[in-house]
Amino acid sequence: MDGTPEDAAWAALLSLRDGGDPSRLPPSELSDLFAPLLLPPRTPDGCLVVGRLAQTLDGRIATLSGSSQWIGGQGDILHTHRLRALCHAVIVGAATVRQDDPRLTTREVTGPDPVRVVLDTERRLAPGYRLFREGPPTLLLCAEDVPGPDRLGAAEVLRLPRAPAATGLCIPAVLRALAARGLRRVFVEGGGITVSRFLAAGCLDRLHVTVAPVLLGSGIPAFTLPPAARIADGLRFPWRHYDLGPDVLFDIALDRARPAAPSP
Ligand SMILES: NC(=O)c1ccc[n+]([C@@H]2O[C@H](COP(=O)([O-])OP(=O)(O)OC[C@H]3O[C@@H](n4cnc5c(N)ncnc54)[C@H](OP(=O)(O)O)[C@@H]3O)[C@@H](O)[C@H]2O)c1
Repeated sequence: MDGTPEDAAWAALLSLRDGGDPSRLPPSELSDLFAPLLLPPRTPDGCLVVGRLAQTLDGRIATLSGSSQWIGGQGDILHTHRLRALCHAVIVGAATVRQDDPRLTTREVTGPDPVRVVLDTERRLAPGYRLFREGPPTLLLCAEDVPGPDRLGAAEVLRLPRAPAATGLCIPAVLRALAARGLRRVFVEGGGITVSRFLAAGCLDRLHVTVAPVLLGSGIPAFTLPPAARIADGLRFPWRHYDLGPDVLFDIALDRARPAAPSP
């Protein structure tokens, strides 16, 4: 039995995951949204990087206690699994693993699972989380000065330099390490600190933000960035928007732009 036009568009997108010309995709809303992610990387590190968050109208990605399931509706979950399927690697921060114990697989769509990548600078996560016990390959990235064996459960441990004059790992070094393994289309799935660190380092080509019609009053922030002193100093960008059921998805062409450093 033939599938829907959306199934056909998705199959065409998946066929370009490892190379091909996205300008030849049949016209559809899905092609329009995802084609920019399938372009060949044009950056010196050889990666094309997309960040994503689902946030409330008041800019929160979770409650203060860390609960985030689910801020967006079913359309946002499907969108997230599509991003996983189109990318070679999916990155999450240590706090997301601690809170959600995610699997980061493509259960909601047809398509391959990405390599799972966890950023845990100080290597504090225990081996009991699902990412380290089951499923597709996982890489644990920690600072090069942190001791420990070369594996955490089933995960391979990679040691990388710390970010100069900032917290966390050196993000360009993260991308170089992934590119060296052929993982060139990279999806930064969360949480807020991790997406913000990629943004502050000028390492996001694209940003997908789903805004859900809910107010929490407080909670874990979506973005934590160097403060702009004046409105004119804020990072402005073009965006496109798509309906995801009750939610709105903003697709932002960041093209590696970074927020201005605060004036001394
Ligand atoms: N709504 C959404 O879209 C969404 C998506 C994902 C997660 N969440 C929720 O968000 C919450 C977690 O988000 P979060 O912003 O608090 O934290 P996070 O981004 O998940 O993780 C931050 C932590 O990960 C490590 N880390 C992040 N970037 C790093 C880097 N460049 N180098 C090395 N280590 C790095 C650090 O851990 P160490 O300090 O231990 O090194 C850092 O404190 C959870 O409640 C989760 O449920 C929501």
